[in-house]
Amino acid sequence: MADKRSERTFIMVKPDGVQRGLVGEIMKRFENRGYKLVACKMCRPSQEHLEEHYRDLKSKPFFPGLITYMTSGPVVCMVWEGKEVVKMGRMMLGATNPLESNPGTIRGDFCIDVGRNICHGSDSVESGKRESSHWFKEGEIQEWKPAEFDWVY
Ligand code: PPS
Repeated sequence: MADKRSERTFIMVKPDGVQRGLVGEIMKRFENRGYKLVACKMCRPSQEHLEEHYRDLKSKPFFPGLITYMTSGPVVCMVWEGKEVVKMGRMMLGATNPLESNPGTIRGDFCIDVGRNICHGSDSVESGKRESSHWFKEGEIQEWKPAEFDWVY
């Protein structure tokens, strides 16, 4: 069985989250919780790239609007690692529709519109793998361990 401590999830701060200056807040919550950042970059994805990311939603009525929203500005992509991070990450983000997300979650604290819901998080371990390799090239995801505190004098 896979080691749950080395589970990885793909988290993306969407254009509204970037424009509202919420990148640091979102990263802080994952770091504070005890998760390890293994990849991070800002990019402006193409329509094709987003259509592939959201390929399972192609038939949904909101799909065109979702793609327009997601191409409206840069996004910040991250891969976080740690124990049950897929499930916990979704819990920290809150329900997809912010009006149903609990206060204390990212969406529950910062937004009210499902079409501007600030952040994306993988919904399964498999999606985490697929999405991480869709957004990051080999070599952009770092394997690292905390050092032995040799910078503390
Ligand atoms: S569904 O219909 O159950 O498959 O959709 P759901 O799992 O709730 O959401 C899948 C992603 O679609 C986004 N979404 C929307 N975007 C724009 N407008 C509307 N109305 C809308 N409804 C759902 C939702 O945020 C999910 O994207 P991510 O990136 O995972 O947040």
